[in-house]
Amino acid sequence: MIPVTKSFLPPIDVYTDYLKKVWDKKIMTNRGDLVLELESKLKDYLNLNHLLCTNNGTIPIQIALKLFANGGEVITTPFSYVATTAAIEWEKCTPVFVDINPDYWTIDETKIEDAITDKTTCILATHVFGNACNIEAINKIAKQNNLRVIYDAAHCFGVDYNGQSIFNYGDISTCSFHATKIFHTAEGGALICNDKDKSEEVFALHNFGHKGKLEYSGLGINAKMSELSAAMGLSILPDMSLIIKGRKKIVDYYNKNLNFACFNTFKLRENSNSNYSYYPLVFNSKEYREKAEYQLNLKQIFPRRYFFPSLNHLPYIGDISMPVSESISERILCLPLYHSLSEQDQVLVINTLNSLS
Ligand SMILES: Cc1ncc(COP(=O)(O)O)c(C=O)c1O
Repeated sequence: MIPVTKSFLPPIDVYTDYLKKVWDKKIMTNRGDLVLELESKLKDYLNLNHLLCTNNGTIPIQIALKLFANGGEVITTPFSYVATTAAIEWEKCTPVFVDINPDYWTIDETKIEDAITDKTTCILATHVFGNACNIEAINKIAKQNNLRVIYDAAHCFGVDYNGQSIFNYGDISTCSFHATKIFHTAEGGALICNDKDKSEEVFALHNFGHKGKLEYSGLGINAKMSELSAAMGLSILPDMSLIIKGRKKIVDYYNKNLNFACFNTFKLRENSNSNYSYYPLVFNSKEYREKAEYQLNLKQIFPRRYFFPSLNHLPYIGDISMPVSESISERILCLPLYHSLSEQDQVLVINTLNSLS
């Protein structure tokens, strides 16, 4: 069986060495030594001034919305994982979808201004598959209209934009360290906020609103990462260059050997790099996508339809049309891509797809 992804697992003795530290200290959570060490090492690795580890990549989006969205309208992309839209609904805000650019697959910045009303408080955009949004344009619109910008950067570990980590952009950026991500802590995530005052508020929000042990600065939630998750992250971090190099090799091999007659992929944003997190193909028609999926499944190859449905078609969203996102969602498949994918398995994927045309 060839799945779309397999989690990278560090050498077990590296992980158990970290676990021994947990056993020694008998502290499992509440920002123990390992979480603090992971935050420090991640800031070094990614060259960031701020980063807060969290228990997944969804709650930091909710925290960012709690801080900035004020129950208002949030301009967002229909082409992302369900967590992006669900977080808006969960925070009792209203998602206002803006269709995506047909080449980059990120929110179409030229359509944002038409969607702004006096109830708009935020833009929540996804750097989908690690491909940067048009950050300058979004920033300009946000400034002119007094809006906050939140980036769902769940897929962006290791992506730089204009020479610095993409996590540095927007009022808040969030990341997922879910087991399917290139860097993971089994479950986990991070929130990056470079505004000092706001980052203090974020800190309180992620820890029940605590201000010291007995006082509360306001409402909060539990978004803390556990020591066991931090141990996983610390065990994987030293292997990141190996992981990215391995994935690059696989991506280069797909790029070189796939016959792009009946499918294509997104255009990488200028001044940015790929972290090789996904290998999405959009087929020329829905029928080609169905045929490809069928043929691949016959050979026990299981690509995934990331991202389907287009989020404007979620059952709790009204009837809105987003033609570009809907069309891409109907025709997309993400191919197997993981560090241990063998060349033999990759050749099987490639031959199956090339025989479609
Ligand atoms: C774009 C996007 N946003 C948010 C999330 C949520 O992250 P998590 O699963 O860590 O909560 C994901 C997870 O896959 C995602 O792909």
